[in-house]
Amino acid sequence: MVAENSIEFECKSIDETKAAVHGGLIEPQITEFTSIFGLPPVASDEKKPSVTASDLAVPIIDFAMSREGIVEKIKEASEKWGIFQVINHGVPSSVLEEIKDGVVRFHEEDPEVKKTYFSRDFAKTFIYHNNFELYSSSAGNWRDSFACYMAPNPPNPEDIPVACRDAMIGYSKHVMSLGGLLFELLSEALGLNSDKLKSLGCMKGLLLLCHYYPPCPQPDITLGTSKHSDNTFITMLLQDQIGGLQVLHQDCWVDVSPIPGALVINIGDFLQLMTNDKFKSVEHRVLANKAGPRISVACFFSSSVIPNSTVYGPIKELVSEENPPKYREFTVPEYSKGYIEKGLDGTSHLLNYKI
Ligand code: OGA
Ligand code: NI
Repeated sequence: MVAENSIEFECKSIDETKAAVHGGLIEPQITEFTSIFGLPPVASDEKKPSVTASDLAVPIIDFAMSREGIVEKIKEASEKWGIFQVINHGVPSSVLEEIKDGVVRFHEEDPEVKKTYFSRDFAKTFIYHNNFELYSSSAGNWRDSFACYMAPNPPNPEDIPVACRDAMIGYSKHVMSLGGLLFELLSEALGLNSDKLKSLGCMKGLLLLCHYYPPCPQPDITLGTSKHSDNTFITMLLQDQIGGLQVLHQDCWVDVSPIPGALVINIGDFLQLMTNDKFKSVEHRVLANKAGPRISVACFFSSSVIPNSTVYGPIKELVSEENPPKYREFTVPEYSKGYIEKGLDGTSHLLNYKI
């Protein structure tokens, strides 16, 4: 068991190097862990059985099907799994390659350049550090990340590092357009007007969170990302071929196997709340790996802590006398503030909104 003050000490010393996991721990050839990167003893949940793809598999939805067929599959996947992979979604593979390359270029940049972006202040346009939840989590994660809000206030291009500037701007346009289609399909899957979720402002905010999971010397005793659900309406994730993303389904950890060219879509907490539990915000995690680096780009449809006064709650058409609202109303910044303060401690922040 690690004493609280020692965790704090290690967090501070990592912060002081401003070099995050990649620059701060890998380059000095660390082969053994400092204590914060180990799993806390209470995280027994992380040890649930893992199953292989042949036993249970995350649904794959081919957007080349008829619209009716797609809506049916999305409904089933969102109710049973809270996650699905999409193929033939229309985002060109060159665009997917460019954003992955851009993410690698930034993370493998000279540490002196990266340092200038090192911050935990979400009010800044572009921020880089290891573990956004480092101070509030019981164990650190083997990962570096950078974050950039692309909406509602698009950044000045000069505020994005050259290494990934064009790739991020180009990719975000495709993400917004595919996002529009997804919110229409999800609305239809709920039996609502196609425009319903868009009209409620689900696409107002877009945060790109670009992860780099360096090769890890002891992947069996730490994680790339601890178990969590997302504080989003939906998340659109691009992952490379390394693998390691898993979802908790029927009490088992199921691999989200990499499929070239596919995008992973998961339902976030806000949509579970708005659909009164019809759609599930799936819990997921990322295993650390020896083979990396692993790259992923998570696009959060959420304005997170940016001021936004819209009040959300279970959608009126989806509740009735027999199915009364299960949650109280929330605003996105208020929810996100509590979510971030809580950190990735393995519990769901949704529970705090239950009536
Ligand atoms: C996230 C996340 C998964 C991944 O950023 O919320 O779950 O594969 N990422 O990096
Ligand atoms: Ni996530």
